Amino acid sequence: MTVHFIGAGPGAADLLTLRGRDIIAACPVCLYAGSLVPKEVLSHCPPNAQIINTASMDLNTIIKEIKKADAIGNDVARLHSGDLSIWSAMGEQLRRLRAEGIAVSMTPGVPSFAAAAAALGTELTLPGIAQSLILTRTPGRASSMPEGETLKNFAATGATLAIHLSIHNLDQVISDLTPYYGADCAVAVAFRASWPDQKIIRSTLQNLCDDMPQGIERTALILVGHALAGEGFEESCLYATDYDRRFRPQSTHSPFRSGQNE
Ligand SMILES: C[S@@+](CC[C@H](N)C(=O)[O-])C[C@H]1O[C@@H](n2cnc3c(N)ncnc32)[C@H](O)[C@@H]1O
Repeated sequence: MTVHFIGAGPGAADLLTLRGRDIIAACPVCLYAGSLVPKEVLSHCPPNAQIINTASMDLNTIIKEIKKADAIGNDVARLHSGDLSIWSAMGEQLRRLRAEGIAVSMTPGVPSFAAAAAALGTELTLPGIAQSLILTRTPGRASSMPEGETLKNFAATGATLAIHLSIHNLDQVISDLTPYYGADCAVAVAFRASWPDQKIIRSTLQNLCDDMPQGIERTALILVGHALAGEGFEESCLYATDYDRRFRPQSTHSPFRSGQNE
C-alpha cells in the first residue's frame, strides 16, 4: 500500500500532470484538501472510490483514514493544491507516515505562482532586472515566520517576490516593500489564477489599494518587482546571434566545436 501525494495544480482541472491523473484513476481511496482542490479533478477517481474531503479534519483524523486504507491494502491518492513542495502541510503527514512504515510517493503539480505568471503573460526573471524569484508569505494566525524571513529582508535583494497567503495583510506588505522597490514599482494580484472567476489586478505599490476590487480574499497571490513591468530589460545572451555556445558554435576555433565546454 502506498500514499501517493499529488500536486493538484492551481485550480483549472486540466492543469494536472498526466502522471497525477493516472495515479488518481488507479487509487481506490482519495483524500483531497477541499478548500482549494477543484472538484473536477475528482472526476478522475475510479467508480466507487472512497473520496474524502480533509478540509475539516485534523492531522490525527487524516492519518487514521490513511491507516484504515492501509489495513485493507488500498492505495491512497492524497491531493493538495498547486505543488506539494510549498505550503501543503505534506511535511507533517510524511513524518507520521514514515514513522508508521507506510510507503509514499510524490507527484509534483503546477504551483500557483506559475499559474499567476501565465495569467499575467509575463516572465518573472528578466535579464538585468531580476534573476531571482522569492516565494514567501507573511505571518498568519497558524504560522509565524522564522526570524530573518521578513519581507524587508527579501525586499533588500530586489528580487521578484511572490507573496502567498497574505492578501489580508496587503497594507503591511505595501508599507514594508515601498522603501525598497519605490512607490511606482509594478505589482500584480492574481485572484484564483486559472479558475473560471480568475481576476488579475495590475498596479503599482502606491496605487494598489485603490485599484483593488471588492471581494479579493484568500486565494490570491501578490507579485511585486520591477520585472512585472515587462520592459526596460536586455535580451538574454542565449539567443544572441553571435553568442558562442555548445549548440551553436560561432567559428571553427570555438571551444564548443570539440564539445569540451558547456
Ligand atoms: C496553502 S497555500 C498553497 C500553495 C500551493 N501549494 C502552491 O503550490 O501554490 C495557498 C495560497 O497559495 C496561493 N494560491 C493558491 N492557489 C492560487 C490560485 N489559483 N491563484 C492565486 N493564488 C493562489 C494563495 O496565496 C493562497 O493563499
